[in-house]
Amino acid sequence: MITPTPLLVFAGSTRAQSFNRQLATQAAALAKAAGAQVTHIELADFDVPLYNADLEAKGTPRDVVRLKEIFHAHPAWLVVSPEYNGSYTALMKNTIDWVSSPIKGDPVWSSGTKPFAGKVVGLLSASPGALGGLRSLSHLAPLLMNLQCWVAPKQFALSKAGEAFGADGQLVAESSRASVQGVVDQVLNAAQRLNG
Ligand SMILES: Cc1cc2nc3c(=O)[nH]c(=O)nc-3n(C[C@H](O)[C@H](O)[C@H](O)COP(=O)(O)O)c2cc1C
Repeated sequence: MITPTPLLVFAGSTRAQSFNRQLATQAAALAKAAGAQVTHIELADFDVPLYNADLEAKGTPRDVVRLKEIFHAHPAWLVVSPEYNGSYTALMKNTIDWVSSPIKGDPVWSSGTKPFAGKVVGLLSASPGALGGLRSLSHLAPLLMNLQCWVAPKQFALSKAGEAFGADGQLVAESSRASVQGVVDQVLNAAQRLNG
């Protein structure tokens, strides 16, 4: 029997009606149906200030350590990224910066890459625009690879996101659902092979 892959899902938006949060929910449901053991977190549930090394010197915030633990515990991730000015959001960058910052002298977290190294990451984005936030993914991929993640070659950018979801929160177009499924399947398959 194949052990279910622990899969982490999060979006880089805290907006109540966020398209990226909706897409993350859809991707999490598809991953669950594919047999993954899904942890879907909301970044709004973590009290993480704007990164500041002076603040960090006084002690890494408890919720940053929680995020390090969660990231590290999941060999596979789905990251859903909004696009601001052709790149990822400040929230996304701030979260990654904190989680990748080593805690000096800490017996567990003295390596900044520890929460990231070896993770298989599927990238998704959603935007009301025609490119679906694709440019945010082209920036996010090298950032994550620099932290030693394996970024899945299949990605999906959902364009015209304002019209993409039905009242039930589901993706309307079967082709969009199939594209999300393609990313989910590739991530789970690669994570199984790398960790099997
Ligand atoms: C400062 C700012 C810059 C933006 N730049 C882009 C952009 O470059 N490309 C794009 O497709 N959408 C851009 N948008 C629109 C966002 O894609 C849109 O607000 C989207 O709904 C944000 O994601 P969310 O719904 O998950 O919160 C921008 C929005 C803001 C606030």
